[in-house]
Order: sequence, then C-alpha cells, then structure tokens
Amino acid sequence: MEKIVINGGIPLRGEVQVSGAKNSALPLLFATLLADGVSEISNVPDLRDINTANKLLRELGAEVATESHCCRINTEKIQNIEAPYDLVKTMRASVLVLGPLLARFGQARVSLPGGCAIGARPINLHLKGLEALGATIQLDHGYVEATADKLRGARILFDIPTVGGTENLLMAASLAEGETVLENAAREPEIVQLADALNSMGAIIEGAGTAIIHIKGVSSLKPLKCQVIPDRIEAGTFMIAAAITGGNILVRGAERKDQEALISKLTETGVKIQPEADGLRVIGPKKLSSVDIRTSVFPGFPTDMQAQFMALMTKAEGTSRISETVFENRFMHVCELQRMGADIQIDGHSAIIRGIKKMLGAPVMATDLRASASLILAGLAAENTTEVSRIYHLDRGYEKIEIKLAALGARIWREQE
Ligand code: UD1
Repeated sequence: MEKIVINGGIPLRGEVQVSGAKNSALPLLFATLLADGVSEISNVPDLRDINTANKLLRELGAEVATESHCCRINTEKIQNIEAPYDLVKTMRASVLVLGPLLARFGQARVSLPGGCAIGARPINLHLKGLEALGATIQLDHGYVEATADKLRGARILFDIPTVGGTENLLMAASLAEGETVLENAAREPEIVQLADALNSMGAIIEGAGTAIIHIKGVSSLKPLKCQVIPDRIEAGTFMIAAAITGGNILVRGAERKDQEALISKLTETGVKIQPEADGLRVIGPKKLSSVDIRTSVFPGFPTDMQAQFMALMTKAEGTSRISETVFENRFMHVCELQRMGADIQIDGHSAIIRGIKKMLGAPVMATDLRASASLILAGLAAENTTEVSRIYHLDRGYEKIEIKLAALGARIWREQE
C-alpha cells in the first residue's frame, strides 16, 4: 500500500491545471450506452473511479479504448445487462447504468450499492422515478431487476434533489415515449453537462440547471462526442490549498459560476479571489477569519468541499460551525484532524471548530475521498511531517494531486508503506 508524505509549512505559489470532472465524466461514460456506435469523450481524468466505470462498460460488452485523457467507447456489441456487486461496491456511481440499460434494452440488473463511509445513501428515488416511467422493479439477492417493454414519459417529483437520481432519470426519459417532467431536480453543473451531452446525441431536454426539467422522448440517440468540464471540487481543493498555506495560486479551469458559494465563504475568511482569463487567482491572507457553513444542494455550499473547508477552519481565528445537511455521517475526518491537534467538537450534524495557531504533523488515515483531501490540506499547513495512509480513496477522485502540489512548491511525495 502507498502513503502520501508531506512536510508542511510552505506557502504554495504558481499555476495548476484542473483535470476533467470525475462526477461529470462518470454519467457521460454511462450515457454512451444509450446509443449504438462509437462515442468519444475527451478531457476524461485519469482516476480509479474512471477505470472502474470502463471496467463496467467492458463487462457489459462495450469496447473501451483510452488514450491521453480520451475515451472511445464502442457499444455495438453490448450483450450483458448486469452491473455486478464487486464493481458497484467499489463505485456507487455504477448504478447510473440502470437508466440507460433499461431505456435501450428494456432490462437491467444492477447490484444494490449498500451503505458507505459517509451514510446510508439509498437509491429509492432512482427506482421510484423509473417505476413512474413504467418500469417493473424487483429485488433479487441484493440486485435490482428492472424491466420495461416501453418506458413512457411521466411527471416525477423528487422528495429531495438527488444528483444521481436526476441523471438516471434524464438518461432513461430521453428514450421514453412522450414527455417527462422532473420536478425538484438537482441543479449541479454536472447535470447541465449531461443534459447538453444528451441533447447533442439527439435528445430534447430543456431546463437543466433549474429545478424543473422537461424531456421529450425520442426513439433513438446517436453516439456522443464531448469534452468533460473542469472538476469544480478539485479546483476548490486547490483554492483552499492556497488559502491554508497563505499562498498565491492561479487555478486554471476554475470557473466562478460553479464556485459562487465557496468563493463567498473564502472571501469572508479574508482570502482574495481574482478572476483571470482562464481561471481564478487565489491569494491566502496572513490571518484567516472563522466563518460558518452549511452544506446543501447546488448552488449552496457543496458537501464535497465540507471536509476541505474544515481543514481550513482549524487554523482560522475564532470559532466556526460547519453543518452537514446532505449526508448523515460525513465527519469521519474529524478524528484524524484532531490527531493533528485540531480543536473540533461534534454536535449532532454540526462540527464546532476553534481555530488554533498551528497544527502538528501526524500519521493519519484517509476514510473517504474528500476526507483524504482534507488531510492533505491540513498536512500542507502543519508543522513537521504528516503521513496520510489508505490513499486509494484519494486516487478515486484526484489525478496526481501530489505531483500538482509539488509543482506549486509543496514538499509532498508518495511512497510505499
Ligand atoms: C453525487 C456525487 C457526490 C456528491 C453528491 C451530493 C457523483 C458521482 N457523486 O452523489 O460526490 O457528494 O452527489 O452532492 O456525482 N438520496 C436518497 N435516495 C436516493 C438518492 C439519494 O435518499 O434515491 C439521498 C442521499 O442519501 C443523500 C442525498 O439524497 O443524502 C443526496 O444524494 P445524491 O445527490 O443522490 O448523491 P449522489 O448522486 O450519490
């Protein structure tokens, strides 16, 4: 197993290029199942989750070729409609094959993902939506078995906005007969990219990026050609790296419109953020002020930035409260930050953080993807050496993060445990 070692305390300087968004690339890869032929997706990040997605596509019978961040997927010989447990348990987003398989082949068998480190994460809303489109859903030995002679458009009101649920329904409804209306839909930029991509394949979707999306079903779609948008969570992580080290970084690919909530909170802490031609320049202050945050669906503060923002608040002046409203158990990083000296108390769904002058490096363990990023950020700002183990979580969602940070001046490297 590998670990990341950091000798902290260096203000980061320079420019960093953000990779393609994992959470956009995954639904796009699965959307290729909706068409017969060869799709091409560029700017695909080189990540463990993308390898898992490609493995799943191959398992279904697709031919997948990857070269310099470009994936070519040939779906002409799909002969299997099952997403097996060993792949779904490694990556929950595998459930996004459900909508496309059902819409194109009239059946799908997908393992139920079960719980994960950050909460229960059911897929009941995906299933309820597909049933509204006319699918018959049964559970068998831990698998969801979905069948439909023909999907028919329907009005679907989500109890809560769900990113994956909205994506699964967008894909399924694109090939359904008649019109579907998704209400209380998720509004994340990744949803907008998926809708744009589906439209470029011949779908008729309006309203993506708002809470109400209209989809007029079509009888077939053509293969996809598109470029993945920059990863706003990776961008946000580098923005916090500049803030926490008192550095000055140009984050190339960061887009203001996708980062309003984070920008507003960072500005309140004293960080300066200036838009430049192809990104955002982020300048960390000498002293950080404490601010409260509450995670919520887009355009609110992203839950995927909560752990990283908490690392920042450990060294801010005063007390901050971070409330997590999207997932029920997303404070696993707290105990590890405490091992580095952070003063954090958990109070139900909130964490109360009293800022300290300096954290001290320590051996810590990553528990999930964004928690790993939080520990790396803490290590960049801490005195002495921090060793982050179980970094396979990090490799699921950050492409070569230690190499990108080292190029900004950080003393950080990967080594065998
Ligand atoms: C996606 C992102 C993940 C991010 C999350 C919230 C991908 C691959 N992953 O995950 O990085 O943290 O959005 O921004 O894009 N829920 C239900 N029933 C359902 C579906 C969801 O109760 O059928 C609940 C979940 O348990 C959670 C909330 O809804 O509490 C939001 O989850 P959702 O938006 O679906 O997240 P994901 O699509 O899994």
